[in-house]
Amino acid sequence: MNDAAVKPSPDARAALNDGNRMPLIGLGTWGLEGETCYRAVREALNIGYRLIDTATMYHNEKEIGRAVRDSGIDRDEVFLTTKVASADMGYESTIKACKGSLARLGIDQIDLYLIHWPSVGKNIETWKTMEGLRSRGLVRSIGVSNFTSDMMDELLLSGASVPAVNQIEINPFVYDAEMARYCAGKRIHLEAYSPLTRGNCLQEREILQIANAYERSPAQVLLRWALQKGLTVIPKASTRDHLRENFNIFDFELYFGDVAKLDALNTVTCMIDR
Ligand SMILES: NC(=O)c1ccc[n+]([C@@H]2O[C@H](COP(=O)([O-])OP(=O)(O)OC[C@H]3O[C@@H](n4cnc5c(N)ncnc54)[C@H](OP(=O)(O)O)[C@@H]3O)[C@@H](O)[C@H]2O)c1
Repeated sequence: MNDAAVKPSPDARAALNDGNRMPLIGLGTWGLEGETCYRAVREALNIGYRLIDTATMYHNEKEIGRAVRDSGIDRDEVFLTTKVASADMGYESTIKACKGSLARLGIDQIDLYLIHWPSVGKNIETWKTMEGLRSRGLVRSIGVSNFTSDMMDELLLSGASVPAVNQIEINPFVYDAEMARYCAGKRIHLEAYSPLTRGNCLQEREILQIANAYERSPAQVLLRWALQKGLTVIPKASTRDHLRENFNIFDFELYFGDVAKLDALNTVTCMIDR
């Protein structure tokens, strides 16, 4: 676990470098649309999830906003992340995209607004526009996704503020230790997308062996591995059983040796879709 990491618990929140706090587990919603999305978000909130990750590109912000409102949970308790799409990067278009997301979600303020993908020549202008959105109170925290350390250095050299979060693909098969060190050094919180390998590598022998030893599922082992690295995880799930299983990861701990075995999978090829 890195220095800034908090002890994992269902209500624990990671401290971001801008003073805000972010839950350690959230629901990923890529591929969830319409009533399926609405039901999954209602169920997730009911189970205890307090972070929902979406993006303009996922075409589900309206359903997510409605599910949060209908849940009756205080808006302050739910952490909503959305992202500006590549096509919307730039000054005017980022402002318009942010206002569109706010309207679809039916909220006054986005908790975390991310650049979804870097776009050469547009990163700095978009980032500075997002700083303006933060100053105006339309978003609370701003961050990036799929950025390399060079891309973040480019932002910083332009005099911009340090991103609060970098959301990247992380699971035992895809782990960039250099990026983790870079982010820890700048207090950029790492958020793991596709933490379950999109469901593709859960049956790998090493994962099954560890899961059997702890009497846990492969998904729980992968999510717990990420939590113990101090990451926020956003597994996507559409069934009640998966949603419950993925949230039930706070009452066991992987021993050092098993974390090392999972770390070693970083060199193993697994068929993760790209
Ligand atoms: N910033 C970016 O560029 C970016 C890119 C990709 C993803 N993301 C975000 O990260 C989220 C998660 O990543 P992801 O959707 O790529 O993949 P993921 O969370 O690694 O895997 C989702 C898959 O795992 C299955 N699953 C969920 N829980 C399971 C369990 N307990 N046992 C077995 N299978 C289980 C799901 O099936 P069911 O649906 O049937 O439950 C689904 O097929 C996305 O939804 C999105 O919010 C961001």
